[in-house]
Formats: sequence, structure tokens, C-alpha cells
Amino acid sequence: MRKIFIAGNWKMVNGAPAEAVALAKEVVNASGSQDNVEVAICPPATAIAAVCEATQGTNVQVGGQNLYPAENGAFTGEISPTFLLAVGCSHVILGHSERRTIFKESDAFINEKVKVALAHGLTPILCCGETDQEREQGVTEKVVETQIRGGLGGLRPDDVTKLVIAYEPVWAIGTGKTATPEDAQSVHAFIRTLLRDLTNDAVADGLRIQYGGSVKPDNAKELLSQPDIDGALVGGASLKADSFGAIIDAGK
Ligand code: PGA
Repeated sequence: MRKIFIAGNWKMVNGAPAEAVALAKEVVNASGSQDNVEVAICPPATAIAAVCEATQGTNVQVGGQNLYPAENGAFTGEISPTFLLAVGCSHVILGHSERRTIFKESDAFINEKVKVALAHGLTPILCCGETDQEREQGVTEKVVETQIRGGLGGLRPDDVTKLVIAYEPVWAIGTGKTATPEDAQSVHAFIRTLLRDLTNDAVADGLRIQYGGSVKPDNAKELLSQPDIDGALVGGASLKADSFGAIIDAGK
């Protein structure tokens, strides 16, 4: 049985520690003491330490939005996995479509990050998803397969079991357009079959695949009730505790 996992991606919002802590505390209250849904929030780097401190001892976990695949060194502006761990992160979002498009991250680079995150004991949330144009061209599965094969390259089944995949159709991110539950389910089922090929039944059946892209309180329940949708990666609706809390409730 896969436990529903709801993660909030705050993106470049709430970077001041005081405002981030205020929202984090509201999320802790809104998420309650349920143990059948796992919850994480991913604030901007400047607020991670404060948010980790504010959520310590609660069931709200904290993740980074990115990392650089080295422990330290001359990488101006970057954040290493050891820094994330030192302030209390358990997760890290990797390969988000904004990183892929704006920062030109390749599957090979994302793969390096996944390996480094796993080697340090951080749980990667590996994102994949097609653009509008790719969906229209009918190459959604091909695109997602390339991203997943690339992102997981060289990993053993034992490693794959430690990560989470987020399917986020790019055309649904921040647009208010959501994949229908059936369309999302079909891609999630495809991803699980691919994982079966790449690893084995036990890993594929146990691995959680989140859906992301305009998840809101009013569509969360239907999305989360699909057999292969095991959670949500939430952007806009994670910036208010009441909407994020309602999405968490939908997963209970
Ligand atoms: P959205 O973002 O919920 O605002 O569409 C999702 C994401 O980018 O992870």
C-alpha cells in the first residue's frame, strides 16, 4: 500500500525566514496529526533553515528545490546536498520543468543530482512531464520515458526504491489547466510499467508517483483517487495553508 505524499513547492516565494516560518506553522496546524498522508514543504533556500527549525518534531517534512551535485567547492551561487542535510532537509525536488527550461538542465545533469542526493540520504522528487506541443504531437510517453530513463540512469533497483517521481505536464503548471484524472492516470500507469521494466515488480509497485500541475482543493480528491496517483506536488495552492490543508485532507 503506497502512502499518499503531498509536497508543496513554494518556488521563489516566501524567501524571507519570518514569512516562511509563519506559513510553515499554519501548514503544521492545517495538516493535523494524520499519519496516513505524508507531507513536505519546499521553501526557497534562504528560508529552509528557519522552516526546518519551526517544523521540527511535527509531521511536516522539509525539502530543497534544487541542489548542485558536489559537496562543496568553487560553484558560486549553488547549494550542496550536505548543506541541505545540515539544516534538516529530508527531500529535494530535482528536474523541475522550470529548471529544465529556464536553466537548461539536461537529463544527464539531473541524473548526477539524483545520484548525489541518494548518496547523501536525501529523497529526490524527480520531476518529468511533456510540454503542450509535445502532447499535441502525441509524444508524451516518449518524452516522459526519456526523462525517466535519463534521470535514473545507472541506479540500482535498491536506489530507485528510495525516490519519488512527480509527473507534471508542463502545460498544466501554474496555468489553471489540469490533466483530466483519466489522462493523468494513463501517464502514471505508463510510468509504473516503465519502472517495472527498469527495476522489478516490488520497486515499481512500491514507488510513489505524484501528480503536479494546477492541483487545487477542488480537483485533488479525484486525482488522488486514481490507482497510480500517489500524491501531489503542489505549487500555487501550497502558498496558502487553507488550500494546501484541503489538498492534504483530500489525500486522507
Ligand atoms: P502549480 O505548480 O501547482 O502552481 O501548477 C506545480 C509545480 O510546479 O510543481
